[in-house]
Amino acid sequence: MTRVIPADAAGIAEAARLLRAGGLVALPTETVYGLACDATDPRAVASLYAAKGRPRFNPLIAHVPDLAAAGQVGLLTPAADTLARHFWPGPLTLVVPALEEATCALARAGLASIALRVPAHPVAQAVLAAAGRPIAAPSANRSGHVSPTTAAHVYADLDGRIDLILDAGPCSVGVESTILDCTGESPVMLRPGGLPREAIEAALGSPLADRAAEAAAHDDAPLAPGMLASHYAPSVPVRLDAQEVLPGEAVLTFAGARPAGSERAAVVRDLSPAGDLVEAAANLFAFLRDLDRVGARGIAVVPLPGHGLGEAIADRLRRAAAPRHS
Ligand code: TXA
Ligand code: MG
Repeated sequence: MTRVIPADAAGIAEAARLLRAGGLVALPTETVYGLACDATDPRAVASLYAAKGRPRFNPLIAHVPDLAAAGQVGLLTPAADTLARHFWPGPLTLVVPALEEATCALARAGLASIALRVPAHPVAQAVLAAAGRPIAAPSANRSGHVSPTTAAHVYADLDGRIDLILDAGPCSVGVESTILDCTGESPVMLRPGGLPREAIEAALGSPLADRAAEAAAHDDAPLAPGMLASHYAPSVPVRLDAQEVLPGEAVLTFAGARPAGSERAAVVRDLSPAGDLVEAAANLFAFLRDLDRVGARGIAVVPLPGHGLGEAIADRLRRAAAPRHS
């Protein structure tokens, strides 16, 4: 049995106690709910991989409360330091050379680098401060499933497999953090996410190189082992850039668009009737879960804008639509 408790002071203290004892705790961040454990404890990390059904070649993000704590876990390169000062706390993960004694090798899947993130959510911040050690936290879903943006999503995937879920309501950003590889001379984007490319490029004063597309094309590309082409997969087929709706399909739309045949759709959900990509990102995973459950033959998705958070939304939808390996 997995307990679900409110993320008040008592809940935060209980979460920190369980983490220090090697337990598995789902907690809110501003992006998605994370499944947290002590990143220095190989037994805890092994049980986390098992609970998610996650392949052990896929490294975890280490979460820390601030820049100073990050500097004890990884070597902040000049580019990483600049970006951290601009955007932490927030939806940005930086891959840097690991300080190998600070986390267990299993959390890094044996890599010499480590992914670091300082989340902005006050509950995540409070738990990190109380736990007093780096916390590994992948998204709190079964491997390959859509990431959770509510405590109920976590419960549906992981009940009976983890100790505790801290419930702080829905996540405000709704897609995972943007990941930048900062081990080289200039940063490279590994995963588009909750911090838009435009903001990063403005801070850097130069365009950002991109390896996300490459990583998605090569399933097992070691540079970002978790970027499997098929991911975030609903159980029914997802069809992108739909101009018309096939009988029995559910529709995921945006800004009031109604593709031909919408009247015969099983159900129509609009990610943001006002055409706001921030609102669309926050709704994306919950709407995919909802549409997956209505008994439709598939989900038709209208074309969406690609700027701002549209890049992360497009990335997640492409993975949801990719051929399944299972
Ligand atoms: O918003 C987020 O980032 C959420 C919240 C909970 O913080 N976490 C999250 O974790 O999305 P996860 O495990 O679902 O995705 C982490 C990604 C994976 O694709 C993994 O392969 C990649 O980060 N990653 C981790 N360490 C890496 C490393 N050293 N080099 C390259 N990629 C790495
Ligand atoms: Mg994930």
